[in-house]
Amino acid sequence: MKVKGPTTPLLGEVRLPGDKSISHRALLHAALSPEESRLNNILRAGVTTSMIDCLRELGVQIKEKDGDLIVRGGKWIQPNKPLNCGNSATTMRLLMGALAGQPITAELTGTQGLQRRPMGRVARPLREMGASISADNAPLVIRGGNLHGIIHHPKVASAQVKAALLLAALQATGESTIHQPGPSRDHSERMLRELGIKLNTDKHKVTIQPSDKSLAATKISVPGDCSSAAFLIASAILIPESKLTLHDVGINPTRTGILDVLTKMGADISIMNNGESGGEPIANIIVSHTNIKSTAIQGETVVRMIDEFPIFTVIATQSEGTTTVKDAAELRIKESDRISSLLGELRKMGVEFSERTDGYTIVGPQVLNPAQLESHGDHRMAMSLAIAGMITRGCTEIMQSEVVDESFPEFIKTFSQLGANIS
Ligand code: S3P
Repeated sequence: MKVKGPTTPLLGEVRLPGDKSISHRALLHAALSPEESRLNNILRAGVTTSMIDCLRELGVQIKEKDGDLIVRGGKWIQPNKPLNCGNSATTMRLLMGALAGQPITAELTGTQGLQRRPMGRVARPLREMGASISADNAPLVIRGGNLHGIIHHPKVASAQVKAALLLAALQATGESTIHQPGPSRDHSERMLRELGIKLNTDKHKVTIQPSDKSLAATKISVPGDCSSAAFLIASAILIPESKLTLHDVGINPTRTGILDVLTKMGADISIMNNGESGGEPIANIIVSHTNIKSTAIQGETVVRMIDEFPIFTVIATQSEGTTTVKDAAELRIKESDRISSLLGELRKMGVEFSERTDGYTIVGPQVLNPAQLESHGDHRMAMSLAIAGMITRGCTEIMQSEVVDESFPEFIKTFSQLGANIS
């Protein structure tokens, strides 16, 4: 991908692709129901293609009708080849949870990048529930069935672990309680409640009572992805005279840490036309250019904006004062090391910073220079560096940038339609 800066003001209206986390959950819940589910605005990108392909191997019927996905599942069949989760940790972790409840054997594999991601955080509690899982990293073989409930205290606040265990707990005998060191995204809880499953939740735990009836059909219109919206929000803030309206974006409070932080930094962001879609709050977001001040991020806010750190770090370089990020060591085990690798790329653009194990400090504003950069196989890193390129004077090239297709295949088209010089 090539980006030529400085970008002229970005003005216009955008509708974002469906939310990645909600799409994964909708597909899996539909795949466990023998009834026909209708899913609208499911994200169609690399990560969800991996999920759809794996589910088809498991005998789940998935068809397209008028742009929606029609899904019929129920009991899964033994796949006759390894299930390839591609580069998607959500696909692998959530599938592990769902497969743990099915009396079949399946091998799960994925890219080299995925093979480096930790799976033990899901495998260990699933083993405790009765599943047999061969390894704590992909490739791994899972044999499910005959699960019993669990009380689990994970060390990190991870929605993927919680979602995977809820999928297993749904198919277990007896109640399960999953504790959380801090609140993480609650899309699974919302969706399961819509399906009539009994759940008790508070900030630090969720208790689920499996039903003896089969799971009901999922009917959902997936909100726009607020993590993809973050790239447009950042570009409007950073590029002088810009103003963007983003339609029907998911604003679930467990995901909107980035909006709260940017507002605190002085960004001009309004939330309008609040509504609801599939048990999730949605709204239009209107954002205009402003000069922003630095901030400090730590604790629960980190989890509420965990996927937005690559783009937040670019914003931090343009904020006046000292930005500090702490308690964010989880960033090191995402699609790339989103502390060292990201700061390393920004260094090539001239950015100065100090790095710690769990975060960094950046003093801004700093001038960014055009450069040749690497995506490190990380979709959010590629898109964040593209936004950084828009505020330079010259041409920035991002290698291996096709990885943006993992979560936001319309990224280049969306920005070029708004007037950015990007190809
Ligand atoms: C996700 C949870 C987060 C996030 C990932 C999607 C989910 O991961 O980074 O992109 O859909 O539950 P963790 O739960 O591992 O923090």
